[in-house]
Amino acid sequence: MDFISKYIETNKERMLDELLEVLRIPSVSADPKYKADVEKTAHWMAGKLKAAGADNVEVCPTEGHPIVYGDKLIDPSKPTVLVYGHYDVQPADPLELWNSPPFEPVVKDGKIYARGSCDDKGQVYMHVKAFEAMMANNALPVNVKFIIEGEEEVGSAHLETFIKENTERLSCDVILISDTSIVANDVPSITTGLRGLCYMEIEVTGPNRDLHSGVYGGGVANPLNTICDMISSLIDEKGHITIDGFYDDVLVVSAEERAEMAKTPFDLEEYKKDLGIGEVKGEDGYTTLERVSIRPTLDVNGIWGGYTGEGSKTVLPSKASAKISMRLVPNQSPDKIAKLFEAHIKKIAPPYVSVKVIAHHGGEPVVVPLDFAPMQAAMKAMEQSFGITPIPTREGGSIPIVALFEQVLGAKSILMGFGLNSDAIHSPNEHYGLFNYYKGIETIPWFFKYYAEMN
Ligand code: BES
Ligand code: MN
Ligand code: MN
Repeated sequence: MDFISKYIETNKERMLDELLEVLRIPSVSADPKYKADVEKTAHWMAGKLKAAGADNVEVCPTEGHPIVYGDKLIDPSKPTVLVYGHYDVQPADPLELWNSPPFEPVVKDGKIYARGSCDDKGQVYMHVKAFEAMMANNALPVNVKFIIEGEEEVGSAHLETFIKENTERLSCDVILISDTSIVANDVPSITTGLRGLCYMEIEVTGPNRDLHSGVYGGGVANPLNTICDMISSLIDEKGHITIDGFYDDVLVVSAEERAEMAKTPFDLEEYKKDLGIGEVKGEDGYTTLERVSIRPTLDVNGIWGGYTGEGSKTVLPSKASAKISMRLVPNQSPDKIAKLFEAHIKKIAPPYVSVKVIAHHGGEPVVVPLDFAPMQAAMKAMEQSFGITPIPTREGGSIPIVALFEQVLGAKSILMGFGLNSDAIHSPNEHYGLFNYYKGIETIPWFFKYYAEMN
């Protein structure tokens, strides 16, 4: 497969320029202001897939943002790999914390700085370039289909309908996704699990209108104080979540697997230094790596109410709200957790307020067993390109569509990502290493080769 490395070497500059070009389109799925840019990105991706040699390329409209499809079916007797990724990105705010504008990519110290450089435009584009390299060298060994969506960062709401309506078109033997991380550039790893997500909002109402905090303060409950009390009671001093039944379905990770996990290189001092914190905090009895991967969590993502403008206003607000996410682990179900959460919030709400509980999008957790045969192909591919044996890791983030792919298409996913946890995805100054970009393009064809050889 020397020809793949040679092809990458020869086309290096162009492969980077193209990525920089798509990073300039602000495909922010959450903000309607960017609707036209999201669509433009879909068409851009479709054009590149076609140019790389894909057939049946289509920008499929949905009730939300479009889905890009394309395929290359070389032989019906050969297996089919479905490549999934997303071309949408998170909002770039707060803009003032970026060292260079989020949609004006710059390459500095071997890294591409731009929103979406790692999550996931950079990683999904590695697949388009790896496909191009295989096509150009007559080396595509199996069938391949691409599905690149524009709503991953907002919950993949319309992808579910799309896959249900297109089960034939999307039928495949395995799904390949690069939207996760490796431990370090010299510690390649393959993701064997992702957490699920249950995202809720609560609204606490006290008096029927905002009040003067002097005239009424002390006489009636302040919903902001009350929501804080309620939220702080959701986690106890041991770091356990207090919602009745919350842990009932949690699959206990074996001592063997925990011992295996403990071998993952991890420097706590470095971690604290990187985040600018003096101490870590989490559930008693678990290491930091365990806390962010195999254990469920509850976090406030936003809280508001009352006056937050310039200067001060003395007000006792009528309402207070919070958005709360719970990361879930196998075998917790987001629907069940949403019900438990709602029941618990209603139970702990004091009589002097009323509460409303709203459920947002969620997703099931994922486990990819190491003995799932294509995992071996992924391991071998990474070993080949990095020259180092990859280690299995479980990650804390979520890709809700993975569980749906398995339910609807009956296919499991290989989570072969190339990002680093330090790439600042969703944060200001998101970046992606040139090393990681090219390493991904190099590794993917090896996966195809080893996967084809297994069949
Ligand atoms: N690519 C991430 C998920 C991820 C990041 C997994 C790093 C493993 C390591 C994905 O784009 C993402 O951000 N997912 C959301 C889920 C969602 C429903 C918006 C998440 O995890 O918050
Ligand atoms: Mn992503
Ligand atoms: Mn993301």
